[in-house]
Amino acid sequence: MSPPPVSKAGVMGWPISHSLSPRLHGFWLRHYGLAGVYDALPVRPEDLPAALRGLQDQGFRGVNLTVPHKVAACSLVDTLDATAQRIGAINLVTVDENGKLSGRNTDAYGFTQNLEARGFVPAGGSAFVLGAGGACRAVLVALADMGFNEIRIANRTRDYAEKLAQELSTKSCQIYVVDWAQASRFLSNIDLVVNTTSLGMTGQPPLDFFLEGLPLSAFVTDIVYAPLETALLRQAKQRGHRTIDGLGMLLHQARPAFKAFFGLDPEVTEELRNFVLSERE
Ligand code: ATR
Repeated sequence: MSPPPVSKAGVMGWPISHSLSPRLHGFWLRHYGLAGVYDALPVRPEDLPAALRGLQDQGFRGVNLTVPHKVAACSLVDTLDATAQRIGAINLVTVDENGKLSGRNTDAYGFTQNLEARGFVPAGGSAFVLGAGGACRAVLVALADMGFNEIRIANRTRDYAEKLAQELSTKSCQIYVVDWAQASRFLSNIDLVVNTTSLGMTGQPPLDFFLEGLPLSAFVTDIVYAPLETALLRQAKQRGHRTIDGLGMLLHQARPAFKAFFGLDPEVTEELRNFVLSERE
């Protein structure tokens, strides 16, 4: 009898060498003793349609997508789940037995799971969000689904924030835009602060945002995870807030993908966090 085929998956991006996903999925494959492969797949934007259509012939169960493919891929798959439609971007494509491609977005799930794993209990209330880029869309959808009643959002380019507020506000979760230059003035009654900008990341300008006025019961989280403790999180800790770093979002968003590719919902552990961090430059 021939052995069962090895499950194949990977991550498509351009460039792709920076991606931590192969290391992350590789850890889980070894940890659970599964026969599978997960590769970094360099795919230029113009080659994405052919690369996705060729997945079945090449024996792939599916792929993750990273920069710059997350939005473009939405129109290249056969079905999009409801969350992916709201976010307008996908980070996971799976291939069924007929070759049909399904697009999903697990970033909102990863954001929520990370907060909950670190002790945040959603209970309505108000959130404050910095930024209005691609990652922010997933965070806003996650916050609305967690039951926040109100979100205040500030972005350097105010128009982008206005557009997100218009698109993603719902009856139960209103999104209000506040001025970037005066954002710190809008922190009263806030339960959670989220940085979704790239500011504060290694090699990027600092995030000059002051938390005076934020209730001490509020949590502060940053989706930047390099460095793990950003200046925002350090400032929050010094003031006595509970803080949640961004690495967990990356780890938790990968769980549904691993389950779809290899059939098992893997655990996010300290050992995994340390392993992923040890590779970082
Ligand atoms: P991602 O997909 O990671 O969210 P992005 O879509 O490029 O990346 O978004 C980057 C975010 O960081 C945006 O909110 C961006 O603000 P603009 O919409 O005004 O561009 C924000 N950002 C990046 N550099 C910035 C800077 N120097 N000052 C203020 N905001 C910045």
